[in-house]
Amino acid sequence: MSEMMAGVSAPTDEETRTLVAYLRRHAQRPLDPRRYPDVYRPEGEAFRLACNQCHVLPDPQRHTAAQWRAVIARMQENMAWMNRVVASKALPGEPQLRVEEINAFLAKHARP
Ligand code: HEC
Repeated sequence: MSEMMAGVSAPTDEETRTLVAYLRRHAQRPLDPRRYPDVYRPEGEAFRLACNQCHVLPDPQRHTAAQWRAVIARMQENMAWMNRVVASKALPGEPQLRVEEINAFLAKHARP
């Protein structure tokens, strides 16, 4: 099949191979809970609840602690954007984003 809806062309075989290779190399590597058992302890809770809402929990070794701070700030923007689309007001009792706890958890396991 080379044509999909609205005249958009499907990728050729070669383009598909390029896309798959790109995704294999750069896709989110999920956190392995056997390596980070504290993700299920209280100190991992803020990270675990907040960060698997849109994608798999990322492996903390992916970034340094300083890089993580920048990623978390960007994720807050992603979350604010998403909340704007879904609802304009926080629900009472809704869990809050505990950024300091998330950064502490990631800094503990981050790449040196
Ligand atoms: C509202 C949805 C949403 C939530 C919640 C969310 N993310 Fe993301 N995340 C995204 C999107 C969209 C991308 C791809 C675009 C980008 O990188 O901003 C992404 C990409 C990433 C990446 C890959 C890019 C990079 O710079 O390494 C990492 C790592 C990541 N998120 C970590 C986190 C962490 C840690 C949390 C918890 C604080 C989190 N995310 C929460 C939506 C979200």
